[in-house]
Amino acid sequence: MTISPDPAAGQAVKAADRAHVFHSWSAQSLIDPLAVAGAEGSYFWDYEGKRYLDFSSQLVNTNIGHQHPKVVAAIQEQAAKLCTFAPAFAIESRSEAARLIAERTPGDLDKIFFTNGGAEANENAIRMARLHTGRQKVLSTYRSYHGATANAIALTGDPRRWPNETGVSGIVHFWGPYPYRSNFHAENEAQECERALAHLEQVIAFEGPQTVAAIILETVVGTAGILIPPAGYLAGVREICDRYGIVFILDEVMAGFGRTGEWFAADHWGVTPDLLTFAKGVNSGYVPLGGVAISGEIAETFATRPFPGGLTYSGHPLACASAVATLNAMAEEGIVENAKHIGETVIGPELRAMAERHPSIGEVRGLGVFWAVELVKNRETREPLTPYNAAGADNAPMAELAAECKKRGLWPFTNMNRFHVVPPCNVSETEAKEGLAILDEVLTLTDAHTV
Ligand SMILES: Cc1ncc(COP(=O)(O)O)c(C=O)c1O
Repeated sequence: MTISPDPAAGQAVKAADRAHVFHSWSAQSLIDPLAVAGAEGSYFWDYEGKRYLDFSSQLVNTNIGHQHPKVVAAIQEQAAKLCTFAPAFAIESRSEAARLIAERTPGDLDKIFFTNGGAEANENAIRMARLHTGRQKVLSTYRSYHGATANAIALTGDPRRWPNETGVSGIVHFWGPYPYRSNFHAENEAQECERALAHLEQVIAFEGPQTVAAIILETVVGTAGILIPPAGYLAGVREICDRYGIVFILDEVMAGFGRTGEWFAADHWGVTPDLLTFAKGVNSGYVPLGGVAISGEIAETFATRPFPGGLTYSGHPLACASAVATLNAMAEEGIVENAKHIGETVIGPELRAMAERHPSIGEVRGLGVFWAVELVKNRETREPLTPYNAAGADNAPMAELAAECKKRGLWPFTNMNRFHVVPPCNVSETEAKEGLAILDEVLTLTDAHTV
């Protein structure tokens, strides 16, 4: 890793950014983006030469870390061969990416519709579900994020939906399981599972089962809390969908491709949806790519009837070549197994030990390299460290935690009252321990806010 500081270049990058780049999710004049000079593996660095351990995997997408040499080489080779070609043609990198993805997806999800990212994948999955069933409504959970395009943001449960709502989406929200903060007054996981399924049944009954096209769930809820479904929940939703002829969609945009220590999170519970959406980890985001893996039955709906959807860059050759190289590298280097191993032997045990020391930790939960540390003001009452959707002074304890991590060279992922431990799937034990040691130190700041 060669880091050559060049503060003047960094200032120029920053100045042009501030003058011309309009950033996502932000009040433009209130942000201060870090100018990044380079990255390798689990680290990136700025123009001052300061290095950060990337415990966020950016937006939880660089599952193989930064600048993986095999993937960089595959992009270069594909660029020299064929940069771009329309979706209507059969292209080597596209065929091979689809084959490798279908080989890994559960059950008979053997046809792949490619998109440029996760939101478009969900848009097209619900389009398929509506056309397949001839019904309009889609059910999703309040604790969810599904993307920022029109339907995907309407599916989303978190507050990013509020300013985007049109009121005519045909989307209905319900409560998924969350044992630590049960909406069902459940005292254990079995009760939470049973009551969450009964609640979903009731929502369907009152919406009219014949009006419901699809239920979409994140297999493991990501940004909204890394919520692992209790045993039996996904199988229960599968059974409800089968009973009412509802399409079951699993959103594996964040949880898929190794993040949970399996190729897909659904593999932990042996459940096969009708449609599975993916993006991020499929090629670690080296070139934008997402897609929908489609069951035999739904694919059959569009065997002789045209599918009314498409994108200029669907199955872009550069993106597909990077997916082929990524999936092969993940298999050759045991990257999914590494994620599982790091979760079981380093992150899980260390976070549980930290929970003993830090009164601000309410709960730690996770799988693979997908962990949440839920912070509270008081362990008995479980009052969150910061209120739901806190901003400004109300969010100060979380802002302080994130700032201190950065100061110490750890790039964090925080959401509401949670710190997510989401390093690359090929993070080493030493790197994972380095990041967790910093987290351990800075949690004394949040401990100071407990009552
Ligand atoms: C579960 C889930 N679905 C969908 C999306 C949207 O993906 P994209 O930003 O690629 O559109 C995200 C992004 O974070 C996600 O986490």
